[in-house]
Amino acid sequence: MKTVIITGAGQGIGQAIALAFHNAGWKVCATDLRRIEETAALLGENNALCLEGDVTDMAFPARVVAATLERFGRLDCIVNNAADQRGTTLEDTPVALFDTVQAVNVRAPYLFAQAGLDALKQTKGSIINLGSLVGNQPIPERVAYSTSKAALAGLTRALATDLGRYGIRVNCIAPGHIMTMGEQAWKERFSEDEQQVFYTHYPLDRVGHPEEIAAVALFLASDAASFITGATVPVDGGMSILCPETGAFRAAGVHWPGNPGGAS
Ligand SMILES: NC(=O)c1ccc[n+]([C@@H]2O[C@H](COP(=O)([O-])OP(=O)(O)OC[C@H]3O[C@@H](n4cnc5c(N)ncnc54)[C@H](O)[C@@H]3O)[C@@H](O)[C@H]2O)c1
Repeated sequence: MKTVIITGAGQGIGQAIALAFHNAGWKVCATDLRRIEETAALLGENNALCLEGDVTDMAFPARVVAATLERFGRLDCIVNNAADQRGTTLEDTPVALFDTVQAVNVRAPYLFAQAGLDALKQTKGSIINLGSLVGNQPIPERVAYSTSKAALAGLTRALATDLGRYGIRVNCIAPGHIMTMGEQAWKERFSEDEQQVFYTHYPLDRVGHPEEIAAVALFLASDAASFITGATVPVDGGMSILCPETGAFRAAGVHWPGNPGGAS
């Protein structure tokens, strides 16, 4: 039975990934800084290990890998999902916070790769990093976070280049906006008009759900993805391919005028 470690699995996308792997018959080590109890309750005791800890603690990744091997005897996949989304503008983000965001979002995946390397060599396993659309298209006033997600896509490619010789695949998922708060909370937080502003920038006319990210993680970890490595896979309802003008026309409720010159 295959075994996966997932960071940031106490809520949101990480929790959905933990449940998807568990439901697919994987043994799961779910970790988070806090609030791991809910995930632990959802997973139950069978084939599940839940650990609390801080991924900025340099000793934590090795501890998690050791505990996973002790409990389950093998490691097939690491999903680096934990993220620190703090920080705003250059003026208002102290360098200490910038460093912490990089430590969670980039250094921890590096340390987990180091800690898990020997075990992943044995299984020809894989690593999956949770990047973001903002790694390519930064959103305003999120300097530290956007930088970290660009770096994580770079780390993915660098590790894929070096670890391929061991049969280890390394990939990244770049989600668009994912409704981690649930449908009800989403509707309470955003007015109809505000929701529409989100939707007009997605060809699928909606934002995503955590389970839609989890399904892609499960695919990337599976043998069905045996020839995919170094990829950053957009899972964003098409947002990243939408021409900016089209999004603006859609938001303004104006139909795209097509080819005004009429030339074919
Ligand atoms: N939700 C979205 O719309 C969205 C969009 C693009 C990318 N992503 C990425 O997907 C992943 C999951 O997103 P989410 O919305 O579920 O995030 P979230 O903020 O709900 O969950 C992140 C988890 O990481 C944990 N974490 C933070 N700092 C930690 C630390 N120092 N040590 C250990 N754990 C720590 C948090 O406790 C939390 O449970 C993240 O990498 C995020 O950047 C999310």
